[in-house]
This record gives sequence, structure tokens and C-alpha cells, in this order.
Amino acid sequence: MLLRLPGLIDPHVHVREPGQEHKEDWDTATQAALAGGFTAVLAMPNTRPPVTDAGTLKAALQRAATGARCDYAQYLAATAGFGPEQARLAPRVAGLKMYLNRTFGPIWLRDHGTWHPAFRLWPREAPLVVHAERVHLAAALFFARLYDRPIHVAHVAYREDILLIRGAKERGWPVTCEVAPHHLWLTEADAPRLGEGWAEVRPRLGTATDREALWANLDVVDVFATDHAPHTREEKAGPNPPPGYPGLETALPLFLTAVHESRLTLEDVVQRMAHNVRRIFRLPEQAATWVEVDLEASWVLPERGWRTKADWSPFAGFRVRGRVHRVVLRGQTAYQEGRVLVPPGFGQDLRAKGLNGR
Ligand code: DOR
Ligand code: ZN
Repeated sequence: MLLRLPGLIDPHVHVREPGQEHKEDWDTATQAALAGGFTAVLAMPNTRPPVTDAGTLKAALQRAATGARCDYAQYLAATAGFGPEQARLAPRVAGLKMYLNRTFGPIWLRDHGTWHPAFRLWPREAPLVVHAERVHLAAALFFARLYDRPIHVAHVAYREDILLIRGAKERGWPVTCEVAPHHLWLTEADAPRLGEGWAEVRPRLGTATDREALWANLDVVDVFATDHAPHTREEKAGPNPPPGYPGLETALPLFLTAVHESRLTLEDVVQRMAHNVRRIFRLPEQAATWVEVDLEASWVLPERGWRTKADWSPFAGFRVRGRVHRVVLRGQTAYQEGRVLVPPGFGQDLRAKGLNGR
């Protein structure tokens, strides 16, 4: 039976272009997105060079405009030199990303003292996304209160972190959050099976207690985001394995499997992969856009044959229930039964008309 869902939006995708096209580029990332049921992706700024100012943003958007097959917006990264010039870019970008923990790429706002300008100057109505774990999350929540502005917490992975967010939300603090599939399905106990380098990811995989706490607190999880972070097989198997997993093509099948197993409702999934993302990130409607899924299809996620250049998956071998049949984007069949049917350049910038599409 085919069921129609709204076009999904992934607010956390590492496209890697410009600078690391051997890992991924706009063409392959958005092919993977369409195959996974996503009609829009928000692209993270830890590219090479990182997207930190008007010049690097312009270059990144030019690549996106020629390469993207689905709709998109590009994040800006906050650096220690953040000032009014960066804040003025807010209407043109998906949001501001603040790296408050160490992760892949050079950007790290290590010192709390460097956080003030971004919290003070970034417009309240523009999304501000933090990578903040444990004490850094507590500090980020404090900054959100101090400057009385909303923040969105990326990839919540641990019991202590989801409990902090629950506490903040219960007191009416302006915080939303996302969880990634790998933190809901995998734990550190999977590392030996995956291989140590393959298991590297930030935030690191948690314990079974962490994983169960995420499932138990899904009522305070606003968004499911993939944190699609492609690295090649050679890099993951090599001496300095970079952190991250590809995720665009496996997320919806995993969540539909949870629906099949009655761990989630279809409404839970659609809220967190479409409606809540559009609301939190103030994205315009995509007219005549939907995804057709076969809820009964039972299949095993393969080792290879993915559209992402990182042609592997930490979920390979998982039996899933549910498959993308067709994706219609702005009236065009963009994907059907394994074939991507729209060319690079078909994707549109969701911030072309600024925040809220205005
Ligand atoms: O595992 C991760 N990989 N976590 C991040 O925060 C960054 C990402 C990447 O860019 O590879
Ligand atoms: Zn990420």
C-alpha cells in the first residue's frame, strides 16, 4: 500500500562542497536526500573553507545553485571573530551554527567568552543551532536565557542532555532539539562490530541507558535529523578515522520500522521530519511536494549501492520495513523506484526570499 507523506526536510546535512568533494558534493548529497524521501536539506558550514562570512557564503551558494537536485539552505558558522557583518547575513542562511564542542573541521568556539557576540547579535527570529554536549549544553542553555533567545540543540545523544532539555522546556525556556537515528539505534556496544574507526562519531555513541533515555523522552524531541556526515571507506578504515556516518538514505526506513513496531506513530515521524522542521527553521512551503512510501516493503539495508559517495552505512544488515517509492518536488517526479529524475540545478534556495520566504 502506498501512503503519501509531506516532503521531508533534513536540517543537518554535511554536503562537503566546497573543498572535500571526494567525500560528497551537492549532486550526490541531494541524490541521496531524494532517495531517502527528503525534498530539502540544510547544509552545515564545516566545509573547506568553512562558511563564515559573505565571501565564503557566496561561493558555497554558487556551488549549491548548480549542483543541488533538491531544495536547500546553507548554514553560517560562528567564529571567534563574529560581528555585525556576519549577523547581517541571517536572512540568507539556514541559520547560525555554533560548534561548542570539538568535532570535524577547524571551527571550535572553545572559550565561553567567544560566545557572546553571536548570542547578542544573531536575530532572535533566525535559527541558532548549537553543537553542545554535557556541561557545554548547560552553558548554552544558560546563554539562551541570558540573551533571551531561542536555540536549537543538534544531535542530542545522552541521558543527561535530554534531561537538561526537558528541564529547560518545562520551565518555558526557548529551546528545541533534534536526535539522530544513530543515537536512537546504536550504542558504544556496537563499536566492536562496526570497527573502531567506523564507529567514530560526534557526539560519540552513548550507553544503552543513554539510548533508552532518548526513546523515553521523545516527547521533548522536536526533530529527527540525520547528521549525514559522509567520509570515505578508506578514511574510516585509516589511521586517523574522521567522525561521522552517512544517514540520508537510511533514516526514513528506520523510523518507518519503528512505526511498524509501534514504537512511534506515523504522525510522530511526520511531525519531526517535516512540520516541526519547517516551523523551527521558518522555511517556506514547497508547493505540490510529497513522498510516496510503501509501508509494507521489507528489505535489508545493504553494505553498498548507496547514492552517497560514502558508499557504506552503520546500519547495513538491519532489516527494515518501509521504502520510498516516489518523490514529487514542486510538481515534478524527482525520484521513482531507484531512479533520480531531476538534474543538478533543479534544487532551489529556500532562503532566496529571506526568512519565512518573505
Ligand atoms: O560525527 C560528526 N561528524 N559530528 C560532527 O559534529 C561533524 C561531522 C562531520 O562533519 O563529519
Ligand atoms: Zn553534524
